[in-house]
Amino acid sequence: MKQLTDRKVLITGSARGIGFAIAEACLEAGAEVFLVDLFREDLETAAARLEGKGSIHFRACDVSDEGQVKELAQTVKERLGSLDALVNNAGITRDNLFMRMTSEQWQAVINVNLTGSFLMARHLVGLIRKSSTGRIVNLSSVAARGNAGQANYAASKSGVIGLTKTLAIELARYNVTVNAIAPGFIATEMTHAITEKARDEWLSKIPAGRAGQPSDVADAVVFLLSDAAAYITGTVIGVDGGLGI
Ligand code: NAI
Repeated sequence: MKQLTDRKVLITGSARGIGFAIAEACLEAGAEVFLVDLFREDLETAAARLEGKGSIHFRACDVSDEGQVKELAQTVKERLGSLDALVNNAGITRDNLFMRMTSEQWQAVINVNLTGSFLMARHLVGLIRKSSTGRIVNLSSVAARGNAGQANYAASKSGVIGLTKTLAIELARYNVTVNAIAPGFIATEMTHAITEKARDEWLSKIPAGRAGQPSDVADAVVFLLSDAAAYITGTVIGVDGGLGI
């Protein structure tokens, strides 16, 4: 039997990048997946790329909009009937040095990365706590410890760690584990957006000597969703080639 046979897993921000790789890895591990992202067309393309790998559902939803999240939760209930795991992967950056950062840049990042994770967990926890193998995995970042140009992002990803640890304590009685993954520098569109100079600087700081691949993160998520991680809760697992040491 595969690691995630009969598990139903919802992944936000899964039309591309790390979220897409998580969806693919979950399907390969035997799970049924529910993809969530901002635009229906992107989800259709992602679902087409995953065709033949297993059972796939999708729906567009902005995770920072509570009305949309409530409707999504209702759809998940109707279409899947139950849910075993939520992966809060949707995230954005709006980098700027603090002295120049606008409150719009601050708020946009907090809204998606932190409030979005809260809203998704809040409206899906009722379904997840009915599972005997309930799991929530939140995407933090090595940048949670602080990173120039990312006051908004670092604050949101530190907030995700506080949210993770508190939910781990509160949901343990329902057999729901809650953990975070803190990726380092992973090759996706998010990191392609930075300058070549900044990219080379990051790469020179990684002990493993290479950028991570989305599949590196996806493998860690599959582990946390599996039975092998049943007694692991409230932790932050770095997937960073040593960058966070
Ligand atoms: P990405 O930018 O390639 O993909 C993010 C996905 O989230 C996109 O498909 C986007 O449409 C979706 N999304 C954005 N806002 C949304 C919203 N309001 N509602 C629903 N979906 C939304 O990013 P990437 O690199 O795949 O990152 C995934 C996660 O991993 C993020 O939380 C990011 O902060 C985190 N991470 C990434 C690192 C990297 O080096 N790429 C390093 C550390 C953390």
